[in-house]
Amino acid sequence: MNFNGKHILLTGGSDGIGLALARQLRDKGAHVTISGRNEERLATAKAEGLGVISGDLSTPQGCTALADTWGEAPLDILINNAGVSSAPNAGVSCVYKAGEPVDLAAMDRAIFLNFHAPVHLITHFLPRLQAAREAMIVNVTSGLAIAPRSEAPIYCATKAGLRSFTMALRHQLKNTHIRMLEVLPPVVETKMTAGHIARGHRAISPDQCAAEVVRAMERGAKEANVGMVKTLRRTYSISPALARRVMIGF
Ligand SMILES: NC(=O)c1ccc[n+]([C@@H]2O[C@H](COP(=O)([O-])OP(=O)(O)OC[C@H]3O[C@@H](n4cnc5c(N)ncnc54)[C@H](OP(=O)(O)O)[C@@H]3O)[C@@H](O)[C@H]2O)c1
Repeated sequence: MNFNGKHILLTGGSDGIGLALARQLRDKGAHVTISGRNEERLATAKAEGLGVISGDLSTPQGCTALADTWGEAPLDILINNAGVSSAPNAGVSCVYKAGEPVDLAAMDRAIFLNFHAPVHLITHFLPRLQAAREAMIVNVTSGLAIAPRSEAPIYCATKAGLRSFTMALRHQLKNTHIRMLEVLPPVVETKMTAGHIARGHRAISPDQCAAEVVRAMERGAKEANVGMVKTLRRTYSISPALARRVMIGF
């Protein structure tokens, strides 16, 4: 796909992988609008030429508000990137074995943001994408969607769920002009992983990750297995049991 003149909505574009991706797509001539909650970061992005919409996507109302704000404006590409990981109080770091109290409300918000929000947004925006000449939906999951690690059961479940949803929807849309890309990042140095990158684990930069995603979007790929996820994907295709054994203690 050629991005020149394309209208793109990218959730979670105020930071990390999303911001790097928004900048690279803007530099290729797309009209990119990002969403996020941090007003300061949104204002900085706006000054860089990105469109911005503020809002919390961890509730159905937040997703509806984003769709209402967008209204009838044209949309060619929807990128579902916003997500939370195992940061303290994010709701997805449930270390049951340590007997930590589980904040069920925070957990539900995290599950909503990681899984329900992409489903809600795709449902809201499908008519706009159907009206476009060529369109694309990009769902950002994780290498952990292939095989989970024990320390992040909720996070891994949301990403595996989104992976499964993406595969099924791709099949439903196969005879339409809407392409579906799943992005599976490895460990990337962002706010999400700050202080959580274990010694010996290799992390890539948000720019490196975004560059691989842009290439996958350009060639109309079904999956962008970024960096080390390529190795995980190959291992899983030879021996799912081996891949699971390695990843569970990752
Ligand atoms: N970093 C990694 O190692 C890694 C690996 C695999 C997959 N991923 C996935 O890649 C995606 C981006 O992650 P990242 O590492 O770039 O994270 P990040 O730097 O923490 O950025 C997360 C983005 O999501 C937005 N966001 C968070 N909570 C939100 C909420 N309730 N409502 C609306 N927006 C919200 C944030 O915006 P505000 O703060 O402005 O709300 C921010 O723009 C996520 O889906 C993540 O699961 C990341």
